[in-house]
Amino acid sequence: MNAKIIDGLSVATKIQAQVKEQVDVLAAQGVKPCLCTILVGEDTASISYINKKQRAAAELGIVTKDLRFPTTLKQEELEKIISELNADSLVHGVLVQLPLPDHIDQNKAISVLDPFKDVDGLTPFNAGMLLKGSPIITPCTPAGILELLDFYKIDVVGMDATIINRSSLVGKPLACLFAERGASVTICHSKSRRLQEKLVRSEIIVSAVGNREKFTLTEDMVNSNAVVIDVGISRVNGRICGDVDFDAVKNKASWITPVPGGVGPMTVAILLRNTVTSTRLSIKSRNDLAG
Ligand code: GUN
Repeated sequence: MNAKIIDGLSVATKIQAQVKEQVDVLAAQGVKPCLCTILVGEDTASISYINKKQRAAAELGIVTKDLRFPTTLKQEELEKIISELNADSLVHGVLVQLPLPDHIDQNKAISVLDPFKDVDGLTPFNAGMLLKGSPIITPCTPAGILELLDFYKIDVVGMDATIINRSSLVGKPLACLFAERGASVTICHSKSRRLQEKLVRSEIIVSAVGNREKFTLTEDMVNSNAVVIDVGISRVNGRICGDVDFDAVKNKASWITPVPGGVGPMTVAILLRNTVTSTRLSIKSRNDLAG
């Protein structure tokens, strides 16, 4: 079997073209969508992600604010900054880049954010709506994975799915979305026993470990004909690679995402789409208030 390639870059480009049209329509109505990103600390991967998100937003005509703070920023200071952005009617979307430094309680900080400005879909409101099956704003990476599956007409209904990640950014929301679509989902992580046993009986595997030195998804872990979605990003000998041993696994899987050019560009494209959703929600709530 030679796997078909899931081309995230080309699907992301199509989504960005649609988002650009929506941004232009809003601009013609006198509303300029604005995305504010918050970065705390000097983590190199986070800096690179934020730079990418800022650049992509600006390219579509989205107004950007780029707030960066030293690692020493205090919990109360971050919460005050988020509260001020909540009150700023010119800011429609706010993204707090994760991970935050250890002294900051991530969940507590995120829960201060206005759910309608929560372009990452991480606030308790958005996480709850997703859990109930009525998402308002869906986390970017899981939403991007669903878009890819839809584009290539890969239906997960009835599939055994295994997700190697249990974070609120990827594993938990994706498990909800897969279950909603009728897959039987297993969430695995670093402490899971008999990982290989679970993986080989899976029809779709989503791997989001991001530490190639610690974990590689190898050919012997994959069932022939499985769909393999690689969310991991690591740098090995200066080269970007995913969790998956791509050259070997592509001979066994039915579909596979490359790294780079797979899920990564989709995360950015969905963030921009979520920014438009947030902008529309702010217009709607303003109109509702005006009666
Ligand atoms: N860190 C890695 N990916 C993401 C993401 O999609 N959103 C946020 N906020 N932080 C991240």
